[in-house]
Amino acid sequence: MKKQHDFDEPIVRRGTDARKYAPSECPNDVVPMWIADSDFASPRELVDALLERVKQGHYGYPFNDIEFCNAVSKWQTERFDWDCTPEMVEFAPGAVLPLVYGMRAFSSPGDKVVLQTPAYHPLFQLIENNGRRIARNPLVLKDGRYEIDFEDLEKKLSDPRAKVMILCNPQNPTGRVFTRDELQKIGDLCLKHHVFVLSDEIHSDIVYSGHKHIPFAAVDPGFRDICCISINPSKTFNTAGLRTAAFICPNQHNKAVILEERLNNKAFGRPIFGQLAMKVLYNECAYYADQFVEYVEENVKTFHEGLKNIKGMHLIYPEGTYLLWVDCREWGMTHEELMRFFKETVKVLPNDGSTFGYEGEGFARFNVACPRSTVLEAVKRIQKAVNA
Ligand SMILES: Cc1ncc(COP(=O)(O)O)c(C=O)c1O
Repeated sequence: MKKQHDFDEPIVRRGTDARKYAPSECPNDVVPMWIADSDFASPRELVDALLERVKQGHYGYPFNDIEFCNAVSKWQTERFDWDCTPEMVEFAPGAVLPLVYGMRAFSSPGDKVVLQTPAYHPLFQLIENNGRRIARNPLVLKDGRYEIDFEDLEKKLSDPRAKVMILCNPQNPTGRVFTRDELQKIGDLCLKHHVFVLSDEIHSDIVYSGHKHIPFAAVDPGFRDICCISINPSKTFNTAGLRTAAFICPNQHNKAVILEERLNNKAFGRPIFGQLAMKVLYNECAYYADQFVEYVEENVKTFHEGLKNIKGMHLIYPEGTYLLWVDCREWGMTHEELMRFFKETVKVLPNDGSTFGYEGEGFARFNVACPRSTVLEAVKRIQKAVNA
């Protein structure tokens, strides 16, 4: 019988230690649609495996199980159709850390890191606090879709101080899934100007009909030597709290250089539960990922439908990710006013768009990885408050 996960089933996260529901940030009467984890139970197979491991009653240092790398390699090969071998894979305690290790390994203080904006917010600080400078390549909103300004990108990459580009694909927060053509152009420019690409592909499982995720290293054989990919099953399977991710670096010399950074930060110890989760999720839970994407795609449609009669809220229709980037600039509010309106009047909490860079001023980001009933409730509240 085909395995089924019930994504309609609500789970109680309020009153647990879930950050999304922290009373200081999201009071009881507010629907949380901010931080990027899901409100779905993780797959049963994972819960069972973790319970078995907990029952052993001892939690000392684990060894580096090669099955961890095999599981990542299998997932990448089967779902994204490229020859990702276990030798390319390494543990990381989160998908952001390989970006930091890579930035430190392939650039020096004072160098520039090229970043497409708006961008996942912690990156701004991470780049600057590591003594590097940000070279912004703003994505351009044209007819409701963000496009890459390649002329500007080449300008930024050709600066001799530009050593690294942080790419995010699928892109948070714009929901773009870059096409083969776009990725080819980015990679060609990086090759030409000797810029190393750190490709954050944490949202790669969540891609909607008509779009396809192509791992950066799979676009062109030449790109294998200039990139490192970050992944984490957390967005798909709601396991961010396990703090276990991986990076994929096809060139063994580059991998060794990045590993040196990890070593220097003593960030190589694996959590026993995370190591186990990686194996169970990637080996046994493809069915969950498929159903998850189908379900969330319907949530996107529901949210979109709900916004249709609302003046001044324009959804940038996503190609991937469960994070919906909504343009509210027509209302003419400052970002403080906009956030106060959503939290205190609407009683739905999105992320403040301006934290993704000044390009996000007047935008809000809504997370729809939740049961449909939550999306419907949020839409109802938005309609009621805005139309009043
Ligand atoms: C693009 C992107 N990268 C990285 C992360 C965080 O990754 P991790 O929790 O593995 O550090 C997020 C979380 O929202 C994200 O959206």
